[in-house]
Amino acid sequence: MSSQMTEDIQIYWHIYDDVDAVAKEAAQRILQYAAEAITNHGIFRLVLAGGRTPEAIYRLLVSADTDWSRWEIYFGDERCLPVDDPDRNSIMAERTLLKFVDIPAANIYPIPSEKGAETAAKEYESVVKSAMPFDVVLLGIGEDGHTASLFPGQKHPSDLLVCPVYHAPKPPSDRVSLCTNALNNAKTIMVLATGAGKRDAIQAWQDGEALPIAEIGGSTSVDVFMDRAAKPS
Ligand code: 6PG
Repeated sequence: MSSQMTEDIQIYWHIYDDVDAVAKEAAQRILQYAAEAITNHGIFRLVLAGGRTPEAIYRLLVSADTDWSRWEIYFGDERCLPVDDPDRNSIMAERTLLKFVDIPAANIYPIPSEKGAETAAKEYESVVKSAMPFDVVLLGIGEDGHTASLFPGQKHPSDLLVCPVYHAPKPPSDRVSLCTNALNNAKTIMVLATGAGKRDAIQAWQDGEALPIAEIGGSTSVDVFMDRAAKPS
Protein backbone atom coordinates (compact mmCIF):
# COMPACT_ATOMS: atom_id res chain seq x y z
CA MET A 1 0.00 0.00 0.00
CA SER A 2 1.29 3.47 -0.82
CA SER A 3 -0.26 6.81 0.03
CA GLN A 4 -0.34 10.19 -1.64
CA MET A 5 -1.57 13.67 -0.70
CA THR A 6 -3.04 15.53 -3.71
CA GLU A 7 -4.40 19.07 -3.12
CA ASP A 8 -5.72 18.37 0.42
CA ILE A 9 -6.96 14.87 -0.25
CA GLN A 10 -5.27 11.86 1.37
CA ILE A 11 -5.33 8.87 -0.98
CA TYR A 12 -4.30 5.35 -0.03
CA TRP A 13 -3.45 3.10 -2.99
CA HIS A 14 -3.95 -0.58 -2.18
CA ILE A 15 -2.49 -2.92 -4.80
CA TYR A 16 -3.58 -6.57 -5.08
CA ASP A 17 -2.52 -9.38 -7.41
CA ASP A 18 -5.80 -9.79 -9.25
CA VAL A 19 -9.53 -9.06 -9.46
CA ASP A 20 -10.39 -11.79 -6.93
CA ALA A 21 -7.97 -10.43 -4.35
CA VAL A 22 -9.40 -6.92 -4.81
CA ALA A 23 -12.95 -8.23 -4.39
CA LYS A 24 -12.05 -10.26 -1.30
CA GLU A 25 -10.29 -7.37 0.44
CA ALA A 26 -12.98 -4.82 -0.46
CA ALA A 27 -15.77 -7.15 0.74
CA GLN A 28 -13.96 -7.72 4.05
CA ARG A 29 -13.54 -3.96 4.55
CA ILE A 30 -17.21 -3.30 3.81
CA LEU A 31 -18.24 -5.89 6.41
CA GLN A 32 -15.83 -4.42 8.94
CA TYR A 33 -17.30 -0.93 8.38
CA ALA A 34 -20.82 -2.40 8.56
CA ALA A 35 -20.11 -3.96 11.96
CA GLU A 36 -18.64 -0.68 13.26
CA ALA A 37 -21.57 1.41 11.98
CA ILE A 38 -24.20 -0.95 13.35
CA THR A 39 -22.43 -0.96 16.76
CA ASN A 40 -21.96 2.83 16.78
CA HIS A 41 -25.27 4.07 15.40
CA GLY A 42 -27.46 1.05 14.73
CA ILE A 43 -27.51 1.38 10.90
CA PHE A 44 -25.08 0.95 8.01
CA ARG A 45 -25.63 3.35 5.10
CA LEU A 46 -23.88 2.07 1.98
CA VAL A 47 -23.76 3.75 -1.44
CA LEU A 48 -23.32 1.16 -4.17
CA ALA A 49 -21.16 1.66 -7.25
CA GLY A 50 -22.43 0.76 -10.70
CA GLY A 51 -20.65 -0.73 -13.69
CA ARG A 52 -19.11 -4.22 -13.75
CA THR A 53 -16.15 -3.96 -11.37
CA PRO A 54 -18.20 -4.19 -8.10
CA GLU A 55 -20.14 -7.31 -9.17
CA ALA A 56 -17.55 -9.71 -7.70
CA ILE A 57 -17.66 -7.84 -4.38
CA TYR A 58 -21.46 -7.90 -4.20
CA ARG A 59 -21.43 -11.67 -4.85
CA LEU A 60 -18.95 -12.19 -1.99
CA LEU A 61 -21.14 -10.19 0.40
CA VAL A 62 -24.07 -12.60 -0.10
CA SER A 63 -22.62 -15.16 2.33
CA ALA A 64 -21.73 -12.57 4.98
CA ASP A 65 -22.64 -13.01 8.63
CA THR A 66 -24.21 -9.59 9.29
CA ASP A 67 -27.53 -8.14 10.47
CA TRP A 68 -28.95 -7.27 7.04
CA SER A 69 -31.96 -5.57 8.66
CA ARG A 70 -29.53 -2.80 9.70
CA TRP A 71 -28.29 -2.07 6.16
CA GLU A 72 -29.54 0.82 4.04
CA ILE A 73 -28.67 0.76 0.34
CA TYR A 74 -28.28 3.84 -1.87
CA PHE A 75 -26.93 4.22 -5.41
CA GLY A 76 -24.14 6.56 -6.54
CA ASP A 77 -25.66 6.85 -10.00
CA GLU A 78 -28.17 5.32 -12.31
CA ARG A 79 -28.84 5.01 -16.00
CA CYS A 80 -32.12 6.37 -17.35
CA LEU A 81 -33.59 3.03 -18.43
CA PRO A 82 -36.88 1.23 -17.72
CA VAL A 83 -37.16 -0.01 -14.12
CA ASP A 84 -36.41 -3.66 -15.03
CA ASP A 85 -33.75 -3.06 -17.67
CA PRO A 86 -30.77 -5.42 -17.11
CA ASP A 87 -28.33 -2.56 -17.80
CA ARG A 88 -29.52 -0.60 -14.75
CA ASN A 89 -27.16 -0.46 -11.79
CA SER A 90 -30.10 -1.28 -9.52
CA ILE A 91 -30.76 -4.46 -11.50
CA MET A 92 -27.07 -5.43 -11.37
CA ALA A 93 -27.17 -4.96 -7.57
CA GLU A 94 -30.38 -6.98 -7.34
CA ARG A 95 -28.95 -9.78 -9.48
CA THR A 96 -25.61 -10.04 -7.61
CA LEU A 97 -26.59 -9.23 -3.99
CA LEU A 98 -29.96 -7.78 -3.01
CA LYS A 99 -32.16 -10.71 -4.07
CA PHE A 100 -30.11 -13.08 -1.88
CA VAL A 101 -30.08 -11.15 1.40
CA ASP A 102 -32.73 -9.95 3.86
CA ILE A 103 -32.35 -6.21 3.57
CA PRO A 104 -35.88 -4.83 4.14
CA ALA A 105 -37.30 -3.41 0.88
CA ALA A 106 -37.92 -0.14 2.72
CA ASN A 107 -34.14 0.14 3.33
CA ILE A 108 -33.27 -0.02 -0.38
CA TYR A 109 -33.36 3.33 -2.23
CA PRO A 110 -33.07 2.95 -5.99
CA ILE A 111 -32.77 6.11 -8.08
CA PRO A 112 -36.13 6.45 -9.98
CA SER A 113 -34.29 7.13 -13.26
CA GLU A 114 -37.16 5.57 -15.24
CA LYS A 115 -38.91 8.89 -14.59
CA GLY A 116 -36.27 10.81 -16.54
CA ALA A 117 -33.08 12.46 -15.30
CA GLU A 118 -34.60 15.75 -14.11
CA THR A 119 -37.47 14.28 -12.08
CA ALA A 120 -35.38 11.44 -10.68
CA ALA A 121 -32.61 13.81 -9.56
CA LYS A 122 -35.10 16.07 -7.81
CA GLU A 123 -36.77 13.15 -6.02
CA TYR A 124 -33.48 11.56 -4.97
CA GLU A 125 -32.12 14.86 -3.61
CA SER A 126 -34.30 14.58 -0.49
CA VAL A 127 -33.44 10.89 -0.04
CA VAL A 128 -29.74 11.74 -0.07
CA LYS A 129 -30.16 14.82 2.15
CA SER A 130 -31.71 12.72 4.93
CA ALA A 131 -29.24 9.85 4.58
CA MET A 132 -25.95 11.76 4.76
CA PRO A 133 -23.37 11.25 6.05
CA PHE A 134 -23.02 7.85 4.47
CA ASP A 135 -20.90 5.22 6.17
CA VAL A 136 -19.32 3.89 2.98
CA VAL A 137 -19.41 5.21 -0.57
CA LEU A 138 -18.27 2.75 -3.24
CA LEU A 139 -17.12 4.15 -6.55
CA GLY A 140 -15.73 2.85 -9.80
CA ILE A 141 -13.53 4.79 -12.22
CA GLY A 142 -13.95 5.03 -15.98
CA GLU A 143 -11.15 4.98 -18.55
CA ASP A 144 -11.64 8.73 -19.00
CA GLY A 145 -11.44 9.42 -15.27
CA HIS A 146 -15.18 9.65 -14.70
CA THR A 147 -16.74 8.30 -11.53
CA ALA A 148 -20.41 7.59 -10.79
CA SER A 149 -21.91 9.54 -13.70
CA LEU A 150 -19.69 12.57 -13.30
CA PHE A 151 -17.88 12.86 -16.63
CA PRO A 152 -14.90 15.02 -17.67
CA GLY A 153 -15.95 18.39 -19.09
CA GLN A 154 -19.45 18.29 -17.55
CA LYS A 155 -20.14 20.87 -14.84
CA HIS A 156 -23.00 20.62 -12.33
CA PRO A 157 -24.42 23.30 -9.97
CA SER A 158 -22.42 23.13 -6.72
CA ASP A 159 -25.53 23.40 -4.55
CA LEU A 160 -27.02 20.15 -5.90
CA LEU A 161 -26.58 16.80 -4.14
CA VAL A 162 -27.99 14.84 -7.07
CA CYS A 163 -27.66 15.96 -10.67
CA PRO A 164 -29.33 15.01 -13.94
CA VAL A 165 -26.73 14.04 -16.55
CA TYR A 166 -27.16 14.38 -20.29
CA HIS A 167 -24.91 13.52 -23.23
CA ALA A 168 -22.89 11.08 -21.12
CA PRO A 169 -20.01 9.68 -23.24
CA LYS A 170 -20.75 6.22 -21.76
CA PRO A 171 -24.19 4.89 -22.84
CA PRO A 172 -26.89 5.49 -22.00
CA SER A 173 -26.51 9.25 -22.46
CA ASP A 174 -29.13 10.21 -19.87
CA ARG A 175 -28.20 9.40 -16.30
CA VAL A 176 -28.58 10.57 -12.70
CA SER A 177 -25.59 10.95 -10.42
CA LEU A 178 -24.84 11.91 -6.86
CA CYS A 179 -22.71 15.04 -7.09
CA THR A 180 -19.24 15.32 -5.62
CA ASN A 181 -20.40 17.02 -2.42
CA ALA A 182 -22.80 14.14 -1.69
CA LEU A 183 -20.28 11.42 -2.58
CA ASN A 184 -17.74 13.08 -0.31
CA ASN A 185 -20.17 13.25 2.62
CA ALA A 186 -19.09 9.84 3.84
CA LYS A 187 -17.08 8.28 6.63
CA THR A 188 -15.25 6.06 4.14
CA ILE A 189 -14.79 6.29 0.37
CA MET A 190 -13.63 3.18 -1.50
CA VAL A 191 -12.66 3.38 -5.20
CA LEU A 192 -12.46 0.13 -7.16
CA ALA A 193 -10.23 -0.16 -10.22
CA THR A 194 -9.30 -3.38 -11.98
CA GLY A 195 -7.86 -4.15 -15.40
CA ALA A 196 -5.31 -2.53 -17.69
CA GLY A 197 -8.04 -0.31 -19.13
CA LYS A 198 -7.96 1.79 -15.96
CA ARG A 199 -4.19 2.33 -15.88
CA ASP A 200 -4.09 5.60 -17.82
CA ALA A 201 -6.91 7.11 -15.75
CA ILE A 202 -5.12 6.13 -12.53
CA GLN A 203 -1.88 7.61 -13.86
CA ALA A 204 -3.65 10.86 -14.79
CA TRP A 205 -5.26 10.98 -11.33
CA GLN A 206 -1.88 10.42 -9.63
CA ASP A 207 -0.39 13.15 -11.85
CA GLY A 208 -2.99 15.59 -10.53
CA GLU A 209 -5.05 15.94 -13.71
CA ALA A 210 -8.36 17.73 -13.12
CA LEU A 211 -10.62 14.69 -13.51
CA PRO A 212 -13.98 14.05 -11.82
CA ILE A 213 -12.36 11.25 -9.79
CA ALA A 214 -9.79 13.75 -8.50
CA GLU A 215 -12.57 15.72 -6.80
CA ILE A 216 -13.42 12.72 -4.65
CA GLY A 217 -12.22 12.94 -1.08
CA GLY A 218 -11.56 15.91 1.11
CA SER A 219 -12.33 15.68 4.81
CA THR A 220 -12.51 11.96 4.15
CA SER A 221 -9.50 10.12 2.82
CA VAL A 222 -9.90 7.86 -0.20
CA ASP A 223 -8.94 4.18 -0.32
CA VAL A 224 -8.30 2.89 -3.83
CA PHE A 225 -8.41 -0.87 -4.30
CA MET A 226 -6.75 -1.91 -7.54
CA ASP A 227 -5.13 -4.92 -9.12
CA ARG A 228 -1.65 -5.02 -10.63
CA ALA A 229 -3.12 -4.70 -14.15
CA ALA A 230 -4.57 -1.27 -13.27
CA LYS A 231 -1.38 -0.05 -11.55
CA PRO A 232 0.60 2.47 -13.58
CA SER A 233 4.17 1.27 -14.13
C1 6PG B 1 -21.99 3.37 -14.51
C2 6PG B 1 -21.02 3.50 -13.37
C3 6PG B 1 -19.68 4.06 -13.81
C4 6PG B 1 -18.70 2.92 -13.61
C5 6PG B 1 -17.42 3.14 -14.39
C6 6PG B 1 -16.55 1.89 -14.38
O1 6PG B 1 -23.18 3.45 -14.30
O2 6PG B 1 -21.55 3.11 -15.61
O3 6PG B 1 -21.50 4.03 -12.26
O4 6PG B 1 -19.20 5.16 -13.13
O5 6PG B 1 -18.38 2.80 -12.24
O6 6PG B 1 -17.78 3.44 -15.72
O7 6PG B 1 -17.28 0.87 -15.01
P1 6PG B 1 -16.74 -0.65 -15.01
O8 6PG B 1 -16.66 -1.06 -13.58
O9 6PG B 1 -17.78 -1.43 -15.76
O10 6PG B 1 -15.39 -0.62 -15.67
